[in-house]
Amino acid sequence: KIYNEKHRLQFHFSPEKKWMNDPNGMVFFKDEYHLFYQYHPFGTTWGPMHWGHAVSKDMIQWEHLPIALYPDEHGEIFSGSAVVDWNNTSGFFDDEPGLVAIYTSADNYPNSDRPRQRQCLAYSKDNGRTWRTYERNPVLSDVNITDYRDPKVFWHEETSKWIMMLATGQSISIYTSPNLKEWEFASEFGNNAGSHDGVWECPDLFKLPVDGDDTNQKWIMLVSIGDNPKFKEGSRTQYFVGQFDGTTFLNDNPDEQVLWLDFGRDNYAGVSWSDIPAQDGRRIYIGWMSNWRYANQVPTEEWRSAMTLPRELSLTSSKEGNRIVQKIISEIDSIRNHTEVTQELTIESDSPVTFNLTSPLMEVNVKFDNKDSNSFGLIFENSKNESIMIQYDTASEKLMVDRTKAGVNSFSESFAALQETDLKMEDGKINLQIFMDTSSIEVLANGGKAVCTSLLFPKHLYERIIIFSNKGTTRVAPLKLTELNSVWG
Ligand code: FRU
Repeated sequence: KIYNEKHRLQFHFSPEKKWMNDPNGMVFFKDEYHLFYQYHPFGTTWGPMHWGHAVSKDMIQWEHLPIALYPDEHGEIFSGSAVVDWNNTSGFFDDEPGLVAIYTSADNYPNSDRPRQRQCLAYSKDNGRTWRTYERNPVLSDVNITDYRDPKVFWHEETSKWIMMLATGQSISIYTSPNLKEWEFASEFGNNAGSHDGVWECPDLFKLPVDGDDTNQKWIMLVSIGDNPKFKEGSRTQYFVGQFDGTTFLNDNPDEQVLWLDFGRDNYAGVSWSDIPAQDGRRIYIGWMSNWRYANQVPTEEWRSAMTLPRELSLTSSKEGNRIVQKIISEIDSIRNHTEVTQELTIESDSPVTFNLTSPLMEVNVKFDNKDSNSFGLIFENSKNESIMIQYDTASEKLMVDRTKAGVNSFSESFAALQETDLKMEDGKINLQIFMDTSSIEVLANGGKAVCTSLLFPKHLYERIIIFSNKGTTRVAPLKLTELNSVWG
């Protein structure tokens, strides 16, 4: 099947049709990467949640599979995770290890409209193709907590226990279990730490070596924070760097510090894959490429929402502290097509240089070596006078992605946005790797130290890029313009 509807992304995962939100249950098992997702099969806006399902050999080309989990007597199926139960701790399996999904069942308390969220299990003995729910669901509930959802479970080698991270309103609660069925409260983190601009959702916790040094590991906690009309950004994702001993997470940084994963508006509810083999060793992340502020209104018809490109996360030390660095997974290479390499350029103010794009699906690699300009950058543009601008300001040391004129934005007041972050030049240079799909742009700056994920809805596909320098000169290393292939059809 070819997906060629207006704005349909060509190298990002999106559902065949209808509404999608959070990625769920990502797990690697028997040579397949599984991706489940919050899915409403009967509408293009959020509604009764199911788990949609897809599998892939490389996280780039996806095969859509039938819905995995349907609403049942415990309610709708909200977000959650999946693990391989290698040692059959759950007792669900006979000779072969299988998959266990841990998710939130959402309904209301009987005879009331007070929401009820409880954690449930389902298991699969056939590589995720069919699922059976555990007959003694739910496995974890708490009548006193209303927001009680999005369990992310992993096996903690050091204590030989399952750990569950659960979003509990304005904090993350941590539970442990020997068998996935019985859970014991261990600790709570975050009431006084990080951003509380919205309800806490979709946590994750995993280890990363600092600068690749396996003898120096840190624990990273991801926390998505929900939309709040008081803040222009809508929903977004923060992270913490610290330590974890099997029961308690300790933040390395001062409580008031807020670290954002992405400075764009459209990366939410992302978590990482479970059970990637140790020989591979990567921590791979994918997010929902939208924002609760306007996700239900974006101008697509047959389907709504896509995922970000999958990213490898690592941790780099700097003067400011340890920070997450993102890299698009190397498997992206399979869709790289023809590459054009330009001359080295010297861009003077008022003399921008234009290149025509040979495809709307592009990867652009560009390195700016500033001489004496105030700002420099590049613009994608079409014949409808729509454009998206990526600009670095040398005085304020800010990188900006301006989508205010990028295309259709009347569907939400919050959509026309300047997205901005602090970013230092390195040896006087800024390098950008840009992935342009039909209705999204991902900008990775200085090797993924700053990342902007942003939707855009141009009426026409972008046709050219313009490299500019303001009030001074910027040198530009040979530009690499790579055509990308569609992964659908
Ligand atoms: C995050 C979220 C989760 C919840 C799911 C419902 O986007 O609100 O907290 O489980 O979406 O679809």
